[in-house]
Amino acid sequence: MDSPLQLFAWVILAGLALVVGQFIVNQFRLFRFARQSAELEHEYLRERISQLAQRRRETRDQAEASWSGFRKFRIVDKVLEARDVCSFYLSPHDGKPLPAFRPGQYLTFQLRLPGQPKSVVRCYSLSDRPGVPERYRVTIKRVPPPPNQPDAPPGLVSSYFHDQLGVGDIVDVKAPAGQFVLDLDQPSPVVLIAGGVGVTPLLSMVNALAETRSTREVWFFYGVRQGREHIMKEHLRALTDRLPTLRLQVCYSDPSEEDRAATPPAFQHTGRVSIDLLKRLLPSNQFDFYICGPPPMMNALVDGLRAWQVPAERIHFEAFGSATVKKPALQSPGSTTTQALKIQFSRSGKVCAWREDAGSVLELAEKNGVAIDSGCRAGNCGTCLVAVKSGEVTYLHEPGAQVEAGSCLACIAVPKTALVLDA
Ligand SMILES: Cc1cc2nc3c(=O)[nH]c(=O)nc-3n(C[C@H](O)[C@H](O)[C@H](O)COP(=O)(O)OP(=O)(O)OC[C@H]3O[C@@H](n4cnc5c(N)ncnc54)[C@H](O)[C@@H]3O)c2cc1C
Ligand code: FES
Repeated sequence: MDSPLQLFAWVILAGLALVVGQFIVNQFRLFRFARQSAELEHEYLRERISQLAQRRRETRDQAEASWSGFRKFRIVDKVLEARDVCSFYLSPHDGKPLPAFRPGQYLTFQLRLPGQPKSVVRCYSLSDRPGVPERYRVTIKRVPPPPNQPDAPPGLVSSYFHDQLGVGDIVDVKAPAGQFVLDLDQPSPVVLIAGGVGVTPLLSMVNALAETRSTREVWFFYGVRQGREHIMKEHLRALTDRLPTLRLQVCYSDPSEEDRAATPPAFQHTGRVSIDLLKRLLPSNQFDFYICGPPPMMNALVDGLRAWQVPAERIHFEAFGSATVKKPALQSPGSTTTQALKIQFSRSGKVCAWREDAGSVLELAEKNGVAIDSGCRAGNCGTCLVAVKSGEVTYLHEPGAQVEAGSCLACIAVPKTALVLDA
């Protein structure tokens, strides 16, 4: 029989054995946890490296496969997306590879239309993600006459696309261009805001985020009048499954009875996308904001974001042409003067005063009856090139088209000094 002392020693030993055993088990668990964490980290790094390598390959391919001037594309599919909105799928007629592009960029088209003395040029955003082999997609809304001029002719090129162009037709297209782009290599959370057909560049962005399985926080606000105008409704809804960090917020300003009765609900908010809605839903203002839509919406949102202390470099926006005024960007970059600047159009003999709210040189010319040809109205096609006889201009954004020395692209030029232009 063990003495009480021996018994006590056994109990102590057993206790010690238990503690040591537990310690070893804990160490083992810790080791396993650390190994799993390291594996996860490695996997994440491997994924990031492969994404970066893919992006580098795309950039290299883009440089190799890009083209200058216009290239022929065949329309290979035409799909109705919503009322008066069609997508056109384009394949290069020469069958050679297509360069990738950056989500948010656009294509420039040149068309010879029956009854038009000159060819016409228009831009359309690429509405799908980069990297879809052998085809591009643009999504075009038929533009009606202005509400206050119902007898005016409808939009020339958008009507031509809808009424005259179909599968098998050939169009002339410039390489992707534009600076309204989402940087896929940044981790920062983003807010994408679209109104109407302005959804096209943002579709490209959100599709690219889903394709790269981005972990960025993504908010997508989309405003339309009602369900009939809701472009790619099902696609956007399906994206919320593919991209778990996506929060889709659809606003209908004038929902129909059918819209109200729909299940699952097609929209979350009645009204327009407003700064109040953003402030109510977003956890903070710490996002990069990308906006494309009608001018009143863009102006209100850009002003509202600035007032909400969002730094200017985090607010990105694109207007679809000069009718869509980019109010906050119209200050002549580099010009400090608040005085009017004298612009003389020497050929037409007109002298005008340019102030910050006058818009580009092209807009000033048009308002004063000075004829300057235009096409894309976005600095990409070169149609509005005008010789500068004296003075200096600056650009609202970097031109996509080549600018000859001594000339300027009137659609994106604003004066830095008084000007004499050959127009
Ligand atoms: C970078 C960029 C990207 C773009 N992306 C897209 C896109 O993805 N999808 C899209 O649908 N659009 C896009 N656009 C807009 C597009 O380029 C065209 O501006 C649009 O299709 C209208 O062109 P249109 O030739 O049909 O109309 P236009 O012929 O240019 O007419 C414009 C308006 O003027 C009116 N009008 C014409 N003649 C008269 C007259 N005599 N008197 C009074 N009014 C008149 C027309 O009725 C119409 O309302 C983009 C624009 C830019 C700059
Ligand atoms: S209109 Fe195309 S560059 Fe000005």
